[in-house]
Amino acid sequence: MSAAALPITDYNALSDESCEGRIRAAKAALGSRLTILGHHYQRDEVFAHADISGDSLKLSRLAAASDAEYIVFCGVHFMAEVADILSRPEQVVVLPDLAAGCSMADMANLVNVERCWSELSELLGEAADSQVTPITYINSAADLKGFCGRHEGIVCTSSNSEAVLNWAFERREKILFFPDQHLGRNTAHRMGIPLEDMVVWDFDQPYGGLTAEQVARARLILWKGFCSVHQMFKPEHIDAFRERTPGGLVISHPENSFEVCAKSDYVGSTETILKTVRASEPGTHWLVGTELNLVNRLHHEMKPRGVQVQFMSPVICMCSTMFRTDPQHLAWTLENLVEGQVVNQIIVPPEIAQPAKAALDRMLALSA
Ligand code: 13P
Ligand code: SF4
Repeated sequence: MSAAALPITDYNALSDESCEGRIRAAKAALGSRLTILGHHYQRDEVFAHADISGDSLKLSRLAAASDAEYIVFCGVHFMAEVADILSRPEQVVVLPDLAAGCSMADMANLVNVERCWSELSELLGEAADSQVTPITYINSAADLKGFCGRHEGIVCTSSNSEAVLNWAFERREKILFFPDQHLGRNTAHRMGIPLEDMVVWDFDQPYGGLTAEQVARARLILWKGFCSVHQMFKPEHIDAFRERTPGGLVISHPENSFEVCAKSDYVGSTETILKTVRASEPGTHWLVGTELNLVNRLHHEMKPRGVQVQFMSPVICMCSTMFRTDPQHLAWTLENLVEGQVVNQIIVPPEIAQPAKAALDRMLALSA
């Protein structure tokens, strides 16, 4: 081991082009000791170096199955936490920029979820555990997954949310779903649950802003969280597209609003969006409601095959936290690994990792 890690300040001024060569050289030096996982929202210059890409579910499975000594996660913080929880203790998970978080995940924390749980118990007149199953979207901090593990709850992703909700309803009559209200609402509605059976828990208000009667009647209690990127897509964007492009198809991520999903022809995870568009016939024209980096790459990939892919919003909106992982940070982390130095390791403490793994394992068993 060398004495000190190479500092990031040596990398900040490097051009993307020089990072490109250095990343390739570091990958070659590390060989099979390294796996780079890349989420579909990563910028092109980083995504190009991913050994494997995927949506949150696919990447969690890959992290669990990886044999590599180092897993470098080009994604956001909660994804690297999941990789650490599911990988073996001797494996090292690295997040190239520690500031790569998720604004939606930050809308729920252990303090406000614990408070919600005890206020729900008061409103219900008995322990929430007897009536409510907590489900956390994978876009959440590890301690919230731990909360779900401790309360017989479960994790879900955008590609298994229906199976997870079914699992939960087989056990208890109500679900507390956090942090994304939209994924919860869109999934439950697709399963035939009417909107009247859902309430929104406003975590800024006492008792979520709800009465005991409202909670007693509800089957689904939806946390008032949302994705700042997907809230930019509006039903009127779909209306304008349909008017301009008769026969065009619309596909959206389930983090979009109910109104956007209701007007879409298909709704699915990032991986599902890619698979669906890739399987379409030449001449198809798509409007896609998800992050710009994914849509731009898909546009360039499908153009030579005669399939048009268009971004849903007229304004540029991308996930600024996914964008934080740049070639400079990737080169910095990899060259440190070559030198035997680990920087930006993500370690979930065992007292959180253990219950979080229980909730993740329940999910993985359902989506096998
Ligand atoms: P996927 O699991 O569909 O890739 O979604 C992750 C995410 O953060 C979408 O905003
Ligand atoms: Fe979080 Fe939204 Fe970015 Fe996905 S797109 S990582 S939900 S902020």
